[in-house]
Amino acid sequence: MNKTFQQDFLRNQVAIVTGGATGICYGISLAYLKYGCKVLITSRKEEVLKQSCIRLAKESGNENIAYFPCDVRKFEQVKAMVQYTLDKWGRIDILVNGAAGNFLVPFEMMSINAFRSVMEIDTFGTFHCCKAVVGKWMSKNGGVIINISTTLPHCGVALQSHAGTAKAGIDALTRHLAVELGPKKIRVVGIAPGAIEKSEGFKRLRMDDSSGFGEDFEKLLPLQRAGTNDDIAPWALFLASDCASYITGQTIIVDGGAVNTFPNF
Ligand code: HXC
Repeated sequence: MNKTFQQDFLRNQVAIVTGGATGICYGISLAYLKYGCKVLITSRKEEVLKQSCIRLAKESGNENIAYFPCDVRKFEQVKAMVQYTLDKWGRIDILVNGAAGNFLVPFEMMSINAFRSVMEIDTFGTFHCCKAVVGKWMSKNGGVIINISTTLPHCGVALQSHAGTAKAGIDALTRHLAVELGPKKIRVVGIAPGAIEKSEGFKRLRMDDSSGFGEDFEKLLPLQRAGTNDDIAPWALFLASDCASYITGQTIIVDGGAVNTFPNF
């Protein structure tokens, strides 16, 4: 438990976290549960969701965790997931768009379908979830949307043209929706994590020698270490809280300073 936040400050609130069964968004789901929130996690793999729900309930001591399998590329499935949440808990205060796909591939080797797959999971998936949650609930009731980005859109990075382009689209969507939806009391913000230990993205980068994420890459970072879920989850708490009630349209970079220094990140 982080002492910065008041115990149970998310009590009676409901969050949907896409990609919440694993990695960074598992950490965000856990933090929300610890502070009293009800959380629905979604991804494509039902068995992974089921196991993650069991772990999340155990680690947080909060039983208000549920799952709904859904491919964020399919708008009909997204609408069903959102409706399930509303039927179960009657409201949606927070949407975290964390579902993402990525792999390392040189531009010249990348198939059309490979580029399209990542665009569809990341950018379209985020759009679909925003559209369904705003349409079914937030338009009349307000809320907070937190889009999980990366630092990739801030620099050119080899082997990541698909993911960087997809996340740049998400950052733009964050700004545009913030402007359009602000009058409806919907804040739209983003978090751009750097290299976060144990995340799927980090594992994939570390496995590939050409990524620049060799054994010693931490030494290139100003803060001399990779990030952890505990570096990201507090931002998801803060941005969902009243402390952030005058912030919208911004994507916060949480990367240990990498974006200013690391030559290929
Ligand atoms: C080249 C690849 C590839 C690879 C897949 N493709 N993996 N091309 N190198 N390693 C191509 C396939 O050949 C296919 O194109 C197309 O991509 C779609 O692949 P499928 O396997 O059919 O798609 P699907 O089953 O929908 O899987 C989606 C996926 C997969 C993105 C490819 O990796 C996935 O489900 N990932 C989810 C988990 C994940 O990636 N998490 C990491 C997020 S990290 P063809 O032409 O053959 O049909 C992140 C942060 C990034 O986003 C920041 C890093 C710093």
